[in-house]
Formats: sequence, structure tokens, C-alpha cells
Amino acid sequence: MRAARFHRYGGPEELRVEDVPEPHATAGTVRVRVLAAGVNPIDWKLRRGDLRGVVDPPLPLVPGRDAVGVVDEVGEGVDDVTTGDTVFGSAGLGGLSAEHAVLTAWAAPAAGWSVEQAASAGLAMTTAVHALAAVGVLEPGTSAPGPVGRAGGTVLVEGASGSVGAAAVVAAVAAGARVVGTARPENHRVLEELGAVAVAHGPGLAGRVAAVAPEGVAVVLDAAGADLDQLVALVGDPAHVVTVVDPVAAGRLGALVAGGENDVAALRTAAALGERGLYLPRVGRTFPLEEAAAAHRLAEGGFPGGKVVLDLRR
Ligand SMILES: NC(=O)c1ccc[n+]([C@@H]2O[C@H](COP(=O)([O-])OP(=O)(O)OC[C@H]3O[C@@H](n4cnc5c(N)ncnc54)[C@H](OP(=O)(O)O)[C@@H]3O)[C@@H](O)[C@H]2O)c1
Repeated sequence: MRAARFHRYGGPEELRVEDVPEPHATAGTVRVRVLAAGVNPIDWKLRRGDLRGVVDPPLPLVPGRDAVGVVDEVGEGVDDVTTGDTVFGSAGLGGLSAEHAVLTAWAAPAAGWSVEQAASAGLAMTTAVHALAAVGVLEPGTSAPGPVGRAGGTVLVEGASGSVGAAAVVAAVAAGARVVGTARPENHRVLEELGAVAVAHGPGLAGRVAAVAPEGVAVVLDAAGADLDQLVALVGDPAHVVTVVDPVAAGRLGALVAGGENDVAALRTAAALGERGLYLPRVGRTFPLEEAAAAHRLAEGGFPGGKVVLDLRR
């Protein structure tokens, strides 16, 4: 089968589309014929070697943590899907930018999602719900409101126009929280459509947030990694701040860290919010698998207005 993979750390040109052995479903997993695979920051951070010493997967590595596909092999013990079903999901650190991939966590996509949206939905919402649970906006492992959600507390989401940030806005609003989100001004309308109050990110954030949230911010979710010090100072207590980007600063400041482990419950939450028309991931641009290097180059060059997606049907 064809897969995009890299043999050594480096620039997008290290990502090559090659013939590789097909993976097969093992007990508790399914294999899909991939229809589309989302490109997440973890993919190009891994390829660049940014995460060396933190995660050191054996090379060559096929990146890709989000995909939608049609099940074509079902592992022993799996009884919730059958061949021919369409699922979205993930597995480990990568493996999904390929014609076939084995998933360890999956769910049925929302009926209203396009293939590209289904390939963009999993990791972002999984990361968002784990982070929201860490600070009490949701109950852990569910989409039910936690204490902050039940109290209608105010959540500040830094990087709210991005994939994780937008998913967090949707899940927090659905849980009853009031949400203030940061984004550059061109993206404010997007945040407002999701139900957040939008402010610009950058220096002076505390004043802008105080102007729109005089009641004060209960908790902060950092989905940008730009300035955790500023976010902790703004809310006053590092235990009320969670980052999905900057564990080093979190360790220094005493803030919380959350991440997007493969998680069926979170995938189902994503799909349920999609069914309600609340979670409709933004797709930036699609590329055929053969242009995986160009897809990485665009994704890591700055936020292109939505998820970069590899379309395996092209
Ligand atoms: N730990 C995990 O398991 C996990 C999982 C998923 C993602 N992540 C991490 O979470 C981060 C976000 O991922 P993503 O997929 O949401 O990326 P993304 O879609 O590219 O979004 C990044 C967002 O950051 C915002 N941003 C850029 N510069 C900023 C600044 N100076 N201050 C505040 N916000 C700024 C951008 O907003 P504007 O364009 O509006 O400026 C953009 O919306 C990445 O670092 C990623 O590696 C971690």
C-alpha cells in the first residue's frame, strides 16, 4: 500500500510517499481503508524531531492521528462494527496517513459531517474534552457538565479559532459555561458563531478579558502555547489553568496538562455534538496523499483557516 512516512527528522521534504507493507487488524482493533486523514501539529512536530526525548518512536514513521475510513478487517473481540462500516478514529502516535490503517479507538461519524470533517474531528475534540475535564468544565470521561459548567462559570480558551480551541468552545458552551475565546480579529466572527465572546490574543489580554467578563474567569484552557505565564496571572491560580501545548511552562508554573489519548468516549462526544449541528470542524485545504509533504508545509506554516486534510480518494 502507499503511505506517507519519514525515515529521518527534518523538513517537509523528508515526508515521502512509498510502498509499505499493509498493517492488519489485531485483537481489539479494526483496519480501515482510509478515506481521509487529518494533519495535526503532532504530525509535523514529530517529523521535525521537536519531540525528541519526549516521544522517540522508531523510524521510519507513518504520521497521522486522525482518519476516517471504511472498515475492511475486524479484530478478534470487536463486536460494535462490521466490514463496510464507516468510522473515524485514531491509534497510537501515528500510522494514519496511509491507504490502510489500524485503529484502536473509533466511532461512527456524525451524519452531517463531510468526509473531510470526519477526518478532522477526533484528536481535536478528544484533546478538548480531556482538558475541559481537568479544570472541571466537564465531568471526566463524559460530556456532562462538571462543577464549572453547572455553575455557568466563565472559561477562557486561548487559541479558540484553532482545531482544539474551537472544539473546546463547542463542548464548553454545550456544558453550560460562558466562553471567552482568543483569536486574531479575522477569526472573531467564527468564534461568535460557536457561542464564544471573542477577544484578540497577545499582550494586554487581561484588560480585554476583564472588559467582556467582569464576573471573572473561572478557568483557562491554553490551546496555543503562546504565553502560559500571562494566562496563569490572569486567572490567579495555576490549578485553574490547563495547557495542551506547553508542559514545560506548566511544570514551572504549577498548571495542569492534558492531552488527546485515544478515547472512544471522546470520539462519541465529538459525533454527538456533530449530530446536534454544534461541532462542524473547519477544513482548511485538502491534498492527495502524494502531496503529503506540501500538506505538512502548509499546516506548519501557520493556521490555514482549518484542518489540512489528506484525501485518499483523490
Ligand atoms: N497534547 C495533545 O495531545 C495535543 C493534541 C492536539 C493538539 N495539541 C497541541 O495544541 C495546539 C493547537 O493544536 P490545533 O490542532 O488546534 O492547532 P491549530 O488548529 O493550528 O490552531 C492553533 C491556534 O493557535 C492560535 N494562535 C496562533 N498564535 C497565537 C498566539 N500568539 N496567541 C494565541 N493564540 C495563537 C491560532 O489562532 P489565530 O489564527 O486566530 O491567531 C490558531 O487558531 C498545538 O500546539 C498542538 O500540538 C496537543
